[in-house]
Amino acid sequence: MRILGVDTSCDDTGVGLVVEGRVVANLRASQEALHAPFGGVVPELASREHLRWLDRLVAEALAQGGLALEDLDLLAVTRGPGLVGPLLVGLNYVKALAWSLDKPYLAIHHLEGHLASAWVGLKEEPPFLALIASGGHTHLFEVSAWGDYRLLGATRDDAVGEAFDKAARLLGLGYPGGPLLEALAREGDPHAVSFPLPLKGQKGYDFSFSGLKTALVQRLEQGFAREDLAASFQEAALRHLVQVVRRAARDLGHTTVLIVGGVAQNARLQALCEGLKVYFPLPGLATDNGAMIALAAWLRWQGKGDPLELPASPYLPLA
Ligand code: KG4
Ligand code: ZN
Repeated sequence: MRILGVDTSCDDTGVGLVVEGRVVANLRASQEALHAPFGGVVPELASREHLRWLDRLVAEALAQGGLALEDLDLLAVTRGPGLVGPLLVGLNYVKALAWSLDKPYLAIHHLEGHLASAWVGLKEEPPFLALIASGGHTHLFEVSAWGDYRLLGATRDDAVGEAFDKAARLLGLGYPGGPLLEALAREGDPHAVSFPLPLKGQKGYDFSFSGLKTALVQRLEQGFAREDLAASFQEAALRHLVQVVRRAARDLGHTTVLIVGGVAQNARLQALCEGLKVYFPLPGLATDNGAMIALAAWLRWQGKGDPLELPASPYLPLA
């Protein structure tokens, strides 16, 4: 099975090639520099940039795999959630390609793509827990089987990656802020500044990061050192994340957890998970990419493609 995967849900154009469940190519055109002057993603600019890159990335991915378009068995593309303009570019591109090649295509849920990103190197089958920790999502699922998901909890305000981005901006760092904040935190003391524990005493499995952000604004005014603020903020945000996951694992009797999305690259997060059996995506598969969409299609494929009428779905719950 040779599958081309495309993700244009936000600001990066991702094209991947998966052959028999193995990632053969995973290319990304980053739009970071394009949006940086605006301090966030400008949807119309993102759409145009996706259009400019798709053809080139598909050609390059096929070249890396030594394949021609005609050799593909299946095409896969993110249908949502995401920014509607960027989604439409990828979806229509892949539909047109599939139609012209007379090949099937699958429209994939972006979060299912993130979940599938941890499948490479995974030595276990479900059931397990899965935490999506990205710039747009902080969602904890119970995975009973691939395709069978139950939402246990989610953020009530900012996504954890978004919280890192906002904190980084408050600290005068660039965008995306997660990796920059992590780097600054390495020079600071994670216990130097106290932060409140979010949703203390809750019975459910939700997350909240806006209180930490407000606390950071206050602590900044109190004159703490930037590296100590970064380290302490990071520690508080990640401890909250891991605490909820540990409690869910204990309550529901799970020992294995997948942690996916951009924030899964954080080394401190990985350290805090000690004692849990956690799988993280391999390098290149954590942030938005095309290979994870192809992997989700590989896990879902049952011999029948999706109809060409399927619309883009900017707001689409997974479960
Ligand atoms: O998965 P992703 O591409 O986002 C969405 O799909 O929404 O991940 C991007 C997010 C950004 O918010 C970025 O700041 C965060 O992941 N991130 C990190 C790290 N690397 C990326 N956050 C904390 N520590 C990191 N090392
Ligand atoms: Zn994503």
